[in-house]
Amino acid sequence: MGRLFFISVFLLPYVIINITTFALPLSTDSRWIVDDDGSNKGRRVKVTCVNWPSHLETAVAEGLSKQPLDSIAEKIVSMGFNCVRLTWPLYLATDESFSDITTVRQSLLKLRLFQAVSGFQVHNPTILDLPLIKAFQEVVSCLGKHRVMVILDNHISQPGWCCSDNDGNGFFGDKHLNPQVWIKGLKKMASMFANNVSSNVVGMSLRNELRGPKQNIKDWYTYMRKGAEAVHSVNPDVLVIVSGLNYATDLSFLRDRPFEVSFRRKLVFEIHWYGFWNSWEEDNSNMICGRETEKIMKMSGFLLEKGIPLFVSEFGVDQRGNNVNDNKFLSCFMALAADLDLDWALWTLAGSYYIRGRTIGSDETYGVLDWNWLSIRNSTILQMVSTIQTPFRGPGLMETQPKKIMFHPLSGLCVVRKSLFQLKLGSCNRSESWRLSSHRVLSLAEERILCLKAYEKGNSVKLRLFFTEFHCSKWRLLSDSKMQLSSVTKNGAFVCLDVDSRSNKIVTRRCKCLQGNSSCDPRSQWFKLVTSTRRRSISKPFLQISPYSKTSLQKALSILLL
Ligand SMILES: *[C@@H]1O[C@H](CO)[C@@H](O)[C@H](O)[C@H]1NC(C)=O
Ligand SMILES: *[C@@H]1O[C@H](CO)[C@@H](O)[C@H](O)[C@H]1NC(C)=O
Repeated sequence: MGRLFFISVFLLPYVIINITTFALPLSTDSRWIVDDDGSNKGRRVKVTCVNWPSHLETAVAEGLSKQPLDSIAEKIVSMGFNCVRLTWPLYLATDESFSDITTVRQSLLKLRLFQAVSGFQVHNPTILDLPLIKAFQEVVSCLGKHRVMVILDNHISQPGWCCSDNDGNGFFGDKHLNPQVWIKGLKKMASMFANNVSSNVVGMSLRNELRGPKQNIKDWYTYMRKGAEAVHSVNPDVLVIVSGLNYATDLSFLRDRPFEVSFRRKLVFEIHWYGFWNSWEEDNSNMICGRETEKIMKMSGFLLEKGIPLFVSEFGVDQRGNNVNDNKFLSCFMALAADLDLDWALWTLAGSYYIRGRTIGSDETYGVLDWNWLSIRNSTILQMVSTIQTPFRGPGLMETQPKKIMFHPLSGLCVVRKSLFQLKLGSCNRSESWRLSSHRVLSLAEERILCLKAYEKGNSVKLRLFFTEFHCSKWRLLSDSKMQLSSVTKNGAFVCLDVDSRSNKIVTRRCKCLQGNSSCDPRSQWFKLVTSTRRRSISKPFLQISPYSKTSLQKALSILLL
């Protein structure tokens, strides 16, 4: 049994809803990341990180001129993340005159960042005169004090903003990616956090976003294997995290040729997914979401089906909330992330950078924190993402039989009970669970005598007593996104499940955008049936029924209602 970790899952605004404990180091069990229970039967740990950049020109973790390290760590915990993906430039580990001699102050002054120096003096005076590598260790250690796990990500070689095809950092053989230097750096970093029973470093990403004209599959196998073995040889505790080609999007070649390493239960693959790679605005959302989801499954998602862990180590959206492209992407991402119950890392914690490119104090609109690293930039988006911070299933989490919850990716909420027969959107912790029978009847998993019935178009759907299937509506998953639940009303109207934006009640409406152009937005009608073995947090079923009482209860209710 390793070291104990306590993770609190917070629901904004700051209400603790769930506390779990787990023991490090982490390992893998088929596609899942699990904790250490002293045998081979660890419990799932859902790794939900935020990226904290520390690889830009200064090679110092961003934000420390704005807020004390300790309070940034506290904020990470209060936002419900259990982990940080901390980026580092290779030269921080291989260039000793840089890492061991240059201090934070010198690194900032070299770039004429005078304001950052004064900010440091106010907020983190004890870090300002540490050598760069010591400052990096301080950040890791402070996160450990707050029981936040850390994944160290070798983001680039030469400190600076990443990435482009021809920046000399893209692939083995590029100007700044000499494989020998890289392996030396990985070993140095991995051993720095090895042999430490209280270390919170749980994983190492070997290299961020391989890319560019030199990239090829043959060298990928050669060097990634060497890198993986190098890390494991000096630090056998950490997960070894391996990314593919084309900016961490392509692992499709693993279908034909497995990635063979000498060790077991420590290997995880990683991918990135951003909305700005496609124009989500120019297509019907059903079509683009269907297409992009399929592509992800083909390029990397298939690994999960083969029992191999996959970590989405970067995704993110413009936190100002007015970027239509990103908003559409986010709904599609949320649906897949919930469905596959992915481990992930949001880009990014950083509200601003000391310097990015030539811009001093550059604002980061993808940052969950604001420019001052003080407040949450957009709590609506964070609240949405919080739904996927808790696991739905996995080893050791089998609290109930597998059932389906109805997840609404646009809002990050789920279908819950409003009253005995009415439904609305609410927290997924209170989600009703469903069974979709082979006859396409949607009934409650716990109270099987109730099924979902569509009434007039525009009206609320209701739960109805389920005497025979004739009393229930039949539901079909429609459209290219396969997220629209459709049925036919008594009057023969063809309808889809939708949400009334004022009351949050679940209603039926005309099915949106089955075909159509980009201006058509079907997302209010998106529902994903997500497998969950999680128990509802607050809740007794509205009706508690033992199998023996089912018929008498049906009788009693039918007298009451008919
Ligand atoms: C071990 O790890 C903890 C947590 O990160 C850190 O605070 C501590 O300084 C480390 N000890 C050594 C000897 O590196
Ligand atoms: C947060 O994002 C939502 C959209 O997801 C947007 O409607 C809202 O205006 C944003 N809020 C702030 C404070 O930027």
